[in-house]
Amino acid sequence: MSTIFVTGGAGFIGSHTCLLLLQKGYKLVVLDSLINSSKISLERVSEIVFQKYNSERIKFINGDIRNNDLLESIFNDAVLNREEFEGVIHFAGLKAVGESVSYPLKYWDANVNGSITLLKVMDKYNCRTIVFSSSATIYKKTENNLKLTENSKIKPSNPYGETKYVIEKILNNLFRFSSSKWKIASLRYFNPIGAHKSGLIGENPSGIPNNIFPFITQVGLKKFDYLKVFGNDWDTYDGSGVRDYIHVMDLAEGHVAAMEYLFKLDEKNININLGTGIGTSVFDLISTFKKVNKIELPFKVVGRRDGDIGYLVANNSLAKSLLNWEPSLNLEEMCIDGWNWQKNNPNGFQN
Ligand code: NAD
Ligand code: WQD
Repeated sequence: MSTIFVTGGAGFIGSHTCLLLLQKGYKLVVLDSLINSSKISLERVSEIVFQKYNSERIKFINGDIRNNDLLESIFNDAVLNREEFEGVIHFAGLKAVGESVSYPLKYWDANVNGSITLLKVMDKYNCRTIVFSSSATIYKKTENNLKLTENSKIKPSNPYGETKYVIEKILNNLFRFSSSKWKIASLRYFNPIGAHKSGLIGENPSGIPNNIFPFITQVGLKKFDYLKVFGNDWDTYDGSGVRDYIHVMDLAEGHVAAMEYLFKLDEKNININLGTGIGTSVFDLISTFKKVNKIELPFKVVGRRDGDIGYLVANNSLAKSLLNWEPSLNLEEMCIDGWNWQKNNPNGFQN
């Protein structure tokens, strides 16, 4: 049974990916500082898969990826227990665009220094297979409504996106100049939403949500009176912003597919878009959410958000062809599953 090291595994995407990895028979060691998550997410993951907490299959360590000594001890223990890590899935990092503008050095430290510390320890312990959480936010904001391929122009417009692109460049450098063979997949996610169908795990943003979907679900809970729609004058089919929303379980499947793709190779370095290839407008997201969940969703059109763009949709043909991966859950299921999580957990994991 292979063991995978998952950084940031208590988070939104990490917890859903851990669930899938456990279901596929992997053993997990999860490191998370819990700066933006709760350990309860992993307890519930274990409950979903094993109906109890299974410390044999998933070990949680509360710590920071910037802590070199802690990482060394984790990798050393894996060697001593003859359970060396077959690979690493690296979710740990800060992800709020607005916060990164206000506190850029916090993002450079957590995301870039954290990744460098991880990569140094991985290299020292001969673990050189990594799936990295990158982001579509690194792409150049284009006004044409073309779907983005992995070769589209890259020009991050905020410190968060810059950190993601710099980490990709570090990985590229490692692959190109290291005397050892590395296997690297940088996954560029578009807009993950939804939750596992059990309603036991889901997105658990701290404070006021930055992203539209948790904001919608909190309007559904009446925590906010209405949703602000940031502009209806975009060059899109109905004037509101268009995005590529992908169910978080489909995203999790993409991570497992990418990792198992790397396991079969001798060395590789690749960037892959993970999206559905389907553009959905804010107005369509609102109407779908209202229809499938049979609830009201008041909204008001306001001015555009600084730095926003009208259209961001993936060309996902590389993921489909290379990873034999195909998103299977549609927007209605994203809205049903996301609301199921939120209405059953009005305060997230703080219940
Ligand atoms: P999240 O905040 O729920 O998960 C990130 C996890 O990393 C959290 O559990 C947090 O506690 C942990 N963490 C942060 N800094 C850490 C550190 N220094 N040491 C250890 N743990 C640390 O976010 P998410 O939505 O699950 O995103 C996971 C990854 O995917 C992030 O790297 C994010 O940048 C990236 N990503 C997210 C989206 C999105 O829309 N959610 C889109 C593209 C990329
Ligand atoms: C989606 C659409 C808004 C909120 C962000 C990050 C990106 C990535 C994914 C980490 C847009 C509109 C939003 C609201 C609205 N995260 N909107 N009212 O901006 O596409 O991407 O999350 O990697 O880095 O930038 O996602 O959910 O904020 O916005 O009308 O209250 O919803 O204008 O069209 P975005 P979002």
